[in-house]
Amino acid sequence: MSVFERRDGDLCLEGLALNRLADDFGTPCYVYSRAAIEQAYLQYAEALGSHPGKICYAVKANSNIAVLQVLAQLGSGFDIVSEGELRRVLLAGGDPAKVIFSGVGKTRDEMAFALDCGIACFNVESAAELELLSAVATECNAVAPVSLRVNPDVDAQTHPYISTGLKENKFGIDINTALEVYQRAASLPGIEVLGVDCHIGSQLTESQPFFDALERLLLLIDELADKGIVIEHLDLGGGIGVRYRDETPPSIQQHIDTIKARLGDRKLALMFEPGRSIVANAGALLTEVLFLKPTEHKNFAIVDAAMNDNIRPSLYQAWQAVEPLRAAEHAETLHWDLVGPICETGDFIAKDRELALEPGQRLALMSSGAYGFVMSSNYNSRPRVAEVLVDGDQAHLIRARETFDDIVRGEALLPLSEGQ
Ligand SMILES: Cc1ncc(COP(=O)(O)O)c(C=O)c1O
Repeated sequence: MSVFERRDGDLCLEGLALNRLADDFGTPCYVYSRAAIEQAYLQYAEALGSHPGKICYAVKANSNIAVLQVLAQLGSGFDIVSEGELRRVLLAGGDPAKVIFSGVGKTRDEMAFALDCGIACFNVESAAELELLSAVATECNAVAPVSLRVNPDVDAQTHPYISTGLKENKFGIDINTALEVYQRAASLPGIEVLGVDCHIGSQLTESQPFFDALERLLLLIDELADKGIVIEHLDLGGGIGVRYRDETPPSIQQHIDTIKARLGDRKLALMFEPGRSIVANAGALLTEVLFLKPTEHKNFAIVDAAMNDNIRPSLYQAWQAVEPLRAAEHAETLHWDLVGPICETGDFIAKDRELALEPGQRLALMSSGAYGFVMSSNYNSRPRVAEVLVDGDQAHLIRARETFDDIVRGEALLPLSEGQ
C-alpha cells in the first residue's frame, strides 16, 4: 500500500500534505516516509522468518542517519562500503556486530577501524584484498571474519551501470578461481572463512538471475565442503528491484521462499543486502516550476531541482513518475521535458511527460528515496537540499539545506604576495 495518497486534491505523504512540507522546508527537498521504510524492511525480515541469517540494509541507497536509526530500531543489520558509512551506522545506534563490509577498495585504515568495531563480516573482493586484510588483522591481534564475494558470471539483465555479476565487471572473484582463493584464505592467520557472497546487480525485476547465481554458488559451497572448508552463510547481495513505472518485481516473500527451498538440506544462514527496495518508494523529491519555456520543437519546464540533486535520470536514463502536488488551475495539458538549472544538456529529471503546468507549480518526483540524495553534489555551486522524514502527522528535518558557507567549507584562498 502506498503511503502517498491524494486527499482533497492534495498529494499527501502519511498524514501531511506535501504542499505544506514545501511551504515549511522549501524546494527542492527530499521527503521520506518512516512507515514505508519500516514496512519494506519488515517484508524482508518476515520473509526470512526463523531461518538463520540477517537483513543488512545497504547504507549506500540512503545513508541519512535518521533513516539508519529507523532501521536500527527494527533490529536491521547494515551493509557498508566505507568507513564513513560504518561511522554513520554507529551514530544511528546500529549494532556493529550486524554490519557487513562490502566494496572493492577497502583501505588498510578502513579495515583496522572495522576490525576494532567488531563487525560481523568482510566481503572480500580480490586475492590482494584478502592478503592485506590478513596482515592488518594480524597486526591488530584480531581475526577477520570473511566471505569472498564471488563473481558468478550471470547476466542480471539490468542497466549496464548497475550490473555487477558479469566477468567483465570489476566486482568479485571469478567463480572459476574462487576455490583456490578460499584455500588460500583458510591458510591465512588473520582470516576466518565464514561465508560466500555475491551481488549481481541492482534493480533486478526478475528472480531468475538470482537463482542462476545461487545454483553456481551452491555448487561452489559443496566443492568447498569436500575440501574441508565449511561455509556458514550465503549472502545473496542486494534486494529485488522496485516498481518505478510498470515493472512487476516478484514479491519478497516469494523470492526468499524460493531461495530457502533451493538450499536443500544444506545448513546455511542467509544474508541479504537490500537497499533500493527498502527506501526507493518511501521517498519523493519535491520541486517547483521556475519558468515555462515552450518552443517550436519542445516544451521545457525549468524546475528548481536538477541533476546535482538527483542524477538518476541523467546517469541511468532512469524513469520516475512526476505528480503535481496540487492540480494547476488554469493550465492546459501538454507534453513537457522537466529540466533543471544546471549548465548541461544532460540535466533533466523527466522527459516527455503529459502535465498541466503553470509557473510556481510544485511537483513530486516519485520513487526518489534510493540513490537520490546520496548521489547529490554541489555541481554549479548549488547547495545540497533538505531532507525531511514524515512520521504520521509529524515532519522532522533530518538534514538542513546547505548554505553557501557549507559549500565553500574547507576551501582556502592563496596567500597574497606583497603588493597584491
Ligand atoms: C555489494 C552491494 N550490496 C547491496 C547493494 C544494494 O543493492 P539494491 O539497492 O539493489 O538492493 C549494492 C548496490 O548496488 C551493492 O553493490
